[in-house]
Parts: sequence; C-alpha cells; structure tokens
Amino acid sequence: MQNKSPPSSSLDMLLSRVSTDALQEPAPRGETLELILATALRAPDHGKLRPWRYIVVQGDQRPAFAREIVAALERRDPDVPDEKKQKILKRFSNAPALIVLGMSLRMGHKIPESEQIMATAAGTMNILNGLYAEGFGGIWVSGAYCEEPELVRRLGLAPADRLAGILMVGTPKDAGRKTRRPEIKDYMAYWHEGEIPVFGAAKEAE
Ligand SMILES: Cc1cc2nc3c(=O)[nH]c(=O)nc-3n(C[C@H](O)[C@H](O)[C@H](O)COP(=O)(O)O)c2cc1C
Repeated sequence: MQNKSPPSSSLDMLLSRVSTDALQEPAPRGETLELILATALRAPDHGKLRPWRYIVVQGDQRPAFAREIVAALERRDPDVPDEKKQKILKRFSNAPALIVLGMSLRMGHKIPESEQIMATAAGTMNILNGLYAEGFGGIWVSGAYCEEPELVRRLGLAPADRLAGILMVGTPKDAGRKTRRPEIKDYMAYWHEGEIPVFGAAKEAE
C-alpha cells in the first residue's frame, strides 16, 4: 500500500538537513547541548556496548585543542605541510564549538568492531539531525589524527579506541541552503523472487 499523505514535518526536517562549515555563534550549550548529545544514545547499539564518548570543546579551549590535533598529525608525519597545519588551526579555533567523536571499542568481542563503529556513526547522525532540529548546524570532519594513539590517550580513551571524527558545530551562516541530492530511485530496488536487483546508481560508477 502506498502512503500518499504529504511528508510530516519530521520527515521534511530529515530531508532538508545539510552539512555546513559556514558557522557562526551561537553553538548549543548547556542543557540544549546535552539534549542534542542524548539523541546519539538513542541510536541502534548491538549488545548495548554504548561505544559513544563525546568530548566537547568550547570557548577559549578551542585554540589549544586545535594545537593538539596539529601535534597528533606531526607525530604521524613530521613533514606535514605548514599550509595544512595553519588550515587546521584556523578551522578548529574558529568553529563555534567542536564535538570530538570518541569510539570506545571492544576488541575480540562477539559484536564485531564494524558494528560498534556503525553504532557510533548512527549516534553521530542523530546529533547532526538534533542540531538541525534546534536551528543549529555543523559538519562531520575527520583526518589522520583520528587513529593517532597519543591523541586518543590524551582524550581519555583506551589504546584500542579511535575517533570517528569531529563535529564542527554552531549556527549556519547559510541557513536554508539547499543542495542537490541524488534521486532515491537510483539507490533502492524492490526485491522480486528470481530477479537480481538493479540500481540506477550502479551506472554512475561504470
Ligand atoms: C566519517 C566521515 C568523515 C568525513 N570527513 C570529512 C572531512 O574531513 N572533510 C569534509 O569536508 N567532509 C567530510 N565528510 C563529509 C561531510 O561531513 C558531509 O557529509 C559533506 O560535506 C556533505 O554534506 P551533506 O551532509 O550535506 O551531504 C565526512 C563524512 C563522514 C561520514
């Protein structure tokens, strides 16, 4: 049976969210921030392993944190280009706030590591939607620092842990911006016995 009713406002919200690094103050704080972070803990989590660990970087802590990221990159590669270092320092010092996405992973557990990582990714998506729902915005970024062991340790995580990335968050300067999205019909199929599903999107890769 087809659902012909117009999309609900919740669905509209999910369909219109975009990522942005064009951010200004304010970032969510206090109880609002904690409620948005709490949406991550509603994500599917096989085995209730609760792998999410969020580290919030605000205010005058941002430049020092940005230097931690650069130091991590330098530990991995002493020749990291100065231009790249300057870009990171600027990005992370100027973002209204940062949410570091820690993943507390159990190695050798019956729940595979990939599923634990998926639970943290699902949580992150809830945060991005929660931010947008409250009039905020952000973007999920990552880099070679995510697996740098000393940074992981300095962020209070265990040796097997990693970062899924960092959310730069604040209020979008470009609120209401729309981006072109792929067509769902190219990314879905209805299964019929005896037929192999064909995806329009597969043609793009050819
Ligand atoms: C794990 C992960 C890491 C990402 N890292 C970066 C990054 O380092 N830099 C970047 O510009 N976008 C990165 N992205 C993509 C952006 O978060 C975002 O999805 C992209 O800009 C498209 O925006 P949209 O969410 O509106 O489609 C990453 C996405 C994921 C899921």
